[in-house]
Amino acid sequence: MSGEGAAVLSGAADSAASADRPAEATAEAAPEATAPGVPLEIEILTLFPGMFAGALAESIPGRVQSRGLAAVRIHDLRQWGLGRHKTVDDYTYGGGAGMVLRPEVVAGALAALRRPDSTVILPDPGGEVFAQPRAHDLATRRHLIILCPRYEGVDERIRSMVDLELSIGDYVLSGGEIPAMVVIDTILRLLPGAIDAESTMEESFTAGLLEYPQYTRPPEFNGVTVPPVLTSGHHEAVRKWRLKEALRRTWRRRPELLEGRQLSSEEGKLLAELKLEDDEGTETPGRV
Ligand SMILES: C[S@@+](CC[C@H](N)C(=O)[O-])C[C@H]1O[C@@H](n2cnc3c(N)ncnc32)[C@H](O)[C@@H]1O
Repeated sequence: MSGEGAAVLSGAADSAASADRPAEATAEAAPEATAPGVPLEIEILTLFPGMFAGALAESIPGRVQSRGLAAVRIHDLRQWGLGRHKTVDDYTYGGGAGMVLRPEVVAGALAALRRPDSTVILPDPGGEVFAQPRAHDLATRRHLIILCPRYEGVDERIRSMVDLELSIGDYVLSGGEIPAMVVIDTILRLLPGAIDAESTMEESFTAGLLEYPQYTRPPEFNGVTVPPVLTSGHHEAVRKWRLKEALRRTWRRRPELLEGRQLSSEEGKLLAELKLEDDEGTETPGRV
């Protein structure tokens, strides 16, 4: 595997780094391009390596790497560019605006980086819509390679070189870097040991529902008080309230998530109950 030109985002190989110390925000030259014993290794192929330093070196993604749970390496795609000018893209056959990533460049990069256990991912507006079940699946893989195209996208023949195309939503970004960051951030926090396991078990989408409302201090703000059950100390009542409010929020905001879901008898009962109660109209998220 070629490590030339690779940069690591934090002390993934620096197991002595404190878990509490923020990871360094600047990329540094990787001494080698493999990290034996690290559960998940991620290679990013990009024309803009500088975009990743902040997003993946701070907070949870940075800590995950400092703890040796994952290693993220950034490769400048231009090192596999063609000719004296290290060209990576060209005009589209048939005419039209914009430049398209050339297949030889990607083939060269993958020849250097791909391993038998690799999953190669192409961010693409036409790909599978990225969602939590896929994030859980990718968190169990050993080696991810994420290709970040720019401009008009990729030569069609590149699609046969990848294992998975992922879209982060029905809109068009300037390049694959931000989708790659979205995917990586989502995966890193799911790795065992990354954060409190309870947090990832209860949060939105993991149980197929949106998360229940949360409150912190003060107990009253602008005339709105914290629901008394949450301060009652009654664990079973709190659990039931949270389940019901998760169902209510999902039913109001994302009813399609409930379609086809096998409801437990408790969930079915709570859903019927809240539908009866809900005569105050529909909550509108993202009102303008
Ligand atoms: C300007 S876009 C190209 C869009 C392409 N011409 C099209 O119409 O589908 C450049 C690159 O950004 C990335 N990209 C843009 N929007 C995306 C999205 N919603 N999900 C995933 N990747 C996206 C893809 O890698 C894409 O090749």
